[in-house]
Parts: sequence; structure tokens; C-alpha cells
Amino acid sequence: MHPHTDPASPKIAVRGLYKRFDGATVNALEHIDLDIGANEFVTFVGASGCGKSTLLRTIGGLEVQTAGELLVDGRAVTGPGIDRAMVFQHYSLYPWMTVLENIRFCRQLAAHTKDRTSSDVEAASGRADALLRLMGLQNVAGAWPNQLSGGMQQRVAIARALMGRPDIVLMDEPFGALDAQTREVMHDLIRYVHRLEKATIVFVTHDVEEALYLGQRVVLMAPRPGRIDTIYDVPFGDQRTQDLKHAPEFLRLKRDILERIRETSGMKTDLEQLQRLSGAAAETV
Ligand SMILES: Nc1ncnc2c1ncn2[C@@H]1O[C@H](COP(=O)(O)OP(=O)(O)O)[C@@H](O)[C@H]1O
Ligand SMILES: [Mg+2]
Repeated sequence: MHPHTDPASPKIAVRGLYKRFDGATVNALEHIDLDIGANEFVTFVGASGCGKSTLLRTIGGLEVQTAGELLVDGRAVTGPGIDRAMVFQHYSLYPWMTVLENIRFCRQLAAHTKDRTSSDVEAASGRADALLRLMGLQNVAGAWPNQLSGGMQQRVAIARALMGRPDIVLMDEPFGALDAQTREVMHDLIRYVHRLEKATIVFVTHDVEEALYLGQRVVLMAPRPGRIDTIYDVPFGDQRTQDLKHAPEFLRLKRDILERIRETSGMKTDLEQLQRLSGAAAETV
């Protein structure tokens, strides 16, 4: 049991979860069992098609499981909620709103607009200003999304996700479209946000280095059927700097995880077959 997970009351409890899409012959998720603690930062990696997004979307209430239990704070998830914010790879900012308006316009909050008092509105604009500062967006508050780089747009999307003070932030390859330098900056930023906001973060990526640098645990999933293969406790504590990515222990774990992904994805056998084929071709020459 991970030290961040209180076994008596996990923030998210996944129990014997199955998902089979209509018409599919293989389960997209099969027997997923996992507890995630409050304020934990868990990352998911695995070969493409292993069900990472499906699991995240199910926690977000955007998919319904075929069988099994999914509890948040001990209550069954029945749909999306203000307690769970999602951030995707393609930041869906409103192009006709400025940065500040995008952050203030939290869809879930908008649903309750009728009942809001002026002090709610005041609190919301204080929150928006705090998030602008937190994400380093003060100087672009009045800019339009299409005037910003991809990294800055994704900061706005994260700020907007945090606007409703979600207990849980679900992120699906949020930095997948960013260049390497921008991604490094975002890694330290999201770790800072995690410490400050005390949210539970569930983060999906195909980048093992990213998963290891960010996660307190790394959950490795395998495809066909989609399942949990291995859970790694990441032994690097919470004080991390970019140097860590070059430490021997980090590189060793990264190699182990990459090797395991290859083993579980069928890519390894593809490679071996290719090598045999090219060997055979060489012999006939
Ligand atoms: N809406 C859908 N309808 C049918 N099959 C789907 C749907 N979404 C995902 N799948 C299938 O479920 C499996 C898991 O997909 P996904 O969760 O997107 O994997 P990952 O995010 O790990 O790449 C894949 O085989 C995929 O084709
Ligand atoms: Mg995916």
C-alpha cells in the first residue's frame, strides 16, 4: 500500500472494473483494481490501446463501465462532476474569449450561475487572478487564445480546470503536443500546482520519463485486454529537479518500464520477427 493512500478511505476506488465497447471482441478494461489516495499524483503509462484514456474517462464520468465499481469519496460515479476536472491534449479554449474570460468561464460553475451572489462572483474573480499568477499568465490576461503558444494555451486550460477547485484533476496526455523544453517547464509547474492546490492528480501519458518525473506511483497498463500490469512506487520523494532525469536510479527505472511496455505490447515480438526476417534475407544474399 502506498503511503499516500489511506486504505480506509481512498479518494478514488476502482474495484473489479470492466469495460467492453459495443461490438468489440476484447475488453477495453479488464479487472481493474486500484485505490488512489487524496492528494496523490498517479501516472499511467502503457502501449497505445491499453485503455488509459478509457479508464480516465470512466473516472471522469464520461464513460460508463460494463461491470465493477468506481467510487469517489466512497460514492459511485454516475456522471461528470464539479469535483473532477479534465485536461486533454487539445486544449479546448474558447477562441472568442480572452485568457481571463476563458479561465473565469468554468463550464461546471456556469451551470450554477443563477444562484450566485455578488460575493460568489467576487470570490471567483479573486480565484481567477490567483490562477493567472500561479500559471504565469498575468501578462496575457487580455490576449486571445490564438495569440498564444501551445504551452501558454495549455496553461490557460489548466487554470480553467482548477477554477472550480476540483478535488481531482484528470489529465490525458496534456503535454503531448508541446515541444521538449516547454514540456519540462510544464512538468515543474504541474508539480508545483499539485503541492499548492492539494488536488489528486491522475495523469495519463505515453512518455515514461514524464510518468516517472511526475508520479508518486506509475501504473503500467497492458493491452488486449486492457489491464494493469505493474504498479511502480517511485522512490524519489517530492523534491525533484530536472537533474533527476539523469540520475542512474531514474534511468534504471525508466529502462525497466520501457522494457516492460515493449514486452506487453507485442512490439518486442514484432522486432524479433523483423530481425529474423532480415537475418534470413542476409543469408540468402
Ligand atoms: N468509443 C470507443 N468505441 C469503441 N472502442 C473504443 C472506444 N474508445 C476506445 N476504444 C477501444 O478501447 C481500447 C482502449 O482504448 P484507449 O482507452 O483509447 O487506449 P489508450 O488511451 O491507452 O491508447 C482500444 O482498443 C480502443 O480501440
Ligand atoms: Mg489515449
